[in-house]
Amino acid sequence: MSDTPCQRSLYQPFDCEIITVTDLTSAEKLFRVRRMDGLPLGHLPGQFVQVSLLGWGEAPISVASSPTREGAFELGVRNAGSLTSAMHLMQAGDTFGVRGPFGRSFDLQRLHGQDLLLISGGCGLAPLRSLIQYCEDRPDEFDQITVLYGAKSPGDRLFKDELAAWEASARFACSLTVDSVPGGDCFSGSVGLITALIPPLTIVPENTVAVVIGPPAMYRAVIAELKKKELGPERIVVSLERQMRCGVGKCGHCTIEHLYCCQDGPVFWLDEIEHLRGAL
Ligand SMILES: Cc1cc2nc3c(=O)[nH]c(=O)nc-3n(C[C@H](O)[C@H](O)[C@H](O)COP(=O)(O)OP(=O)(O)OC[C@H]3O[C@@H](n4cnc5c(N)ncnc54)[C@H](O)[C@@H]3O)c2cc1C
Ligand code: FES
Repeated sequence: MSDTPCQRSLYQPFDCEIITVTDLTSAEKLFRVRRMDGLPLGHLPGQFVQVSLLGWGEAPISVASSPTREGAFELGVRNAGSLTSAMHLMQAGDTFGVRGPFGRSFDLQRLHGQDLLLISGGCGLAPLRSLIQYCEDRPDEFDQITVLYGAKSPGDRLFKDELAAWEASARFACSLTVDSVPGGDCFSGSVGLITALIPPLTIVPENTVAVVIGPPAMYRAVIAELKKKELGPERIVVSLERQMRCGVGKCGHCTIEHLYCCQDGPVFWLDEIEHLRGAL
């Protein structure tokens, strides 16, 4: 008899089967995955799982799909090292272990009824996509939704088809930018840093929450622009990455001063962490 999620140890992976693998860029793939016991993953947007491959160990990977999309979940994985390069060789029908979901999700209750400003750079679109899909599926729960995304080049953009659909959708205001456009590439968005997309926005600070996920260098510059728009740290959400091992607040590998990124985060309100050394 298989364990229920409550009976299973936090340290015991469950088996998952890859349904499809799709190239997102030359370095990132999207894995559509199902639990082999048929149960839903049971995650909320912003949470992550610990993926395990025999012989390679474990790596934390954000869930890139919304829990409102049932039957499977998705992981956007960059080929960054040993486990992820082994994962990139896997195909539909292959299996791997998963622990989780772990970590603090976006606070959907506090986001309810707000204008959302969803800002991501590079790989940060993968965890944010879970929330964007959730907003697509629960349109009545949020007010205006603005999506800003920046990538190094047009070819480095994740989820290109979905970006085009969000741009075309009346539900979202969507602006894209790239650092540069190599010769031969075709791109209709702006060229420059993502920070340049913020000044033209009209923001109602008392009814807006901004969510920021991206490479470390992006946070300070984006947050500075948001503060110029009078958005306080209690209205800015960030999702942070740290080296992780256990994923459940036991090993201490992921600490940000007194906080455990794996358990107190990875999603934080800015006023919880901006005063902590090395947080951003
Ligand atoms: C909460 C969380 C969510 C994540 N979500 C995703 C995701 O959705 N998709 C994705 O592709 N990656 C994600 N990552 C990053 C991913 O876990 C790391 O890249 C991981 O090291 C890959 O494992 P590996 O064995 O392939 O690489 P390794 O061989 O372990 O390491 C590759 C290199 O990355 C460095 N590294 C390891 N972890 C981190 C980290 N957290 N931050 C910066 N550098 C690190 C290592 O020191 C090494 O130089 C996430 C990390 C965290 C903490
Ligand atoms: S990863 Fe072990 S305490 Fe956070």
